[in-house]
Amino acid sequence: MFVARRLPEAGLAPLREAGLHVDVHDSEEPITRQELLSRAAGAHALITLMSERVDDALLDAAGPQLKVVANFAVGYDNIDVPACRRRGVVATNTPGVLDDATADMAFALLLAVARRLPEGEALVRSGAWTGWRPEQLLGAHVTGATIGIVGLGRIGRAVARRARGFDMRLLYHNRRPDPAAERELNARYETMDELLSQSDFVSLHVPLTAETRHLIGQRELALMKPTAVLVNTARGPVVDEAALVSALQGGSIAGAGLDVYEDEPAVDPGLLGLQNVVLAPHLGSATRETRTAMARLCSEAVLAVLAGREPANAISG
Ligand code: DGY
Repeated sequence: MFVARRLPEAGLAPLREAGLHVDVHDSEEPITRQELLSRAAGAHALITLMSERVDDALLDAAGPQLKVVANFAVGYDNIDVPACRRRGVVATNTPGVLDDATADMAFALLLAVARRLPEGEALVRSGAWTGWRPEQLLGAHVTGATIGIVGLGRIGRAVARRARGFDMRLLYHNRRPDPAAERELNARYETMDELLSQSDFVSLHVPLTAETRHLIGQRELALMKPTAVLVNTARGPVVDEAALVSALQGGSIAGAGLDVYEDEPAVDPGLLGLQNVVLAPHLGSATRETRTAMARLCSEAVLAVLAGREPANAISG
């Protein structure tokens, strides 16, 4: 079997213990497409990352013995699921284990933008800080503010639980209302437009699909309050990055906390020059525990499929 990147070793241990020959692209850097196509050849199982396109060409290069592609991510916009299904290849992802880490990151970005943490840190590090000032770097009040969660799935709900700890008023938008979640979280369903216009913080938690590409564009940003902050820990293309830069530059929203970008690892140069954004390098699931758990889920999926069992996290859609 072939693993497309170096992953936490403890997560791969079940594969080695089962006696599988595990060929790993043993690098922090993504594998080139050409090398992927050649090293996947003959594999019964692949572990891929969001940097690998799993499409007809890769599946053909792997060959008809391929049984499973386990994606080391919850998002699977890199996988052509129908192409896998046509060949009887099971595709799996890693839901559940990264909800808390990703929600923590969303909240870290929200707080950092609201309280202007990077600006404060830069001031201290520069040596230019001359002391406490009554109106220095005043930020937005988080406790009691309104948060709009777009996509109240597992990660969205984990963000909602954190927001409750800050006594925030909770609005959400999903394809359809979720009365059970509403009761559990004291959240109110709103149309997308209402959510955008009422929220002080908007946090995105939808998968990237044809429907959600550029879900937040010029029109949506214009609906937001001029004091509002947008947080994106989902997928970059959910936001029209050029429209976001214009909105931030023109003051139609107050700030943004971004962990993901439209064309990673490229970042719109317009964002780099702005003070009112906090930029992280796609770190949502980046805790030791979470990344190990993700690798373990991939290993378990591979072992299940190779043993003829149904894996826990087969991708159905
Ligand atoms: C995912 O799992 O989809 C993240 O973006 C990477 O952890």
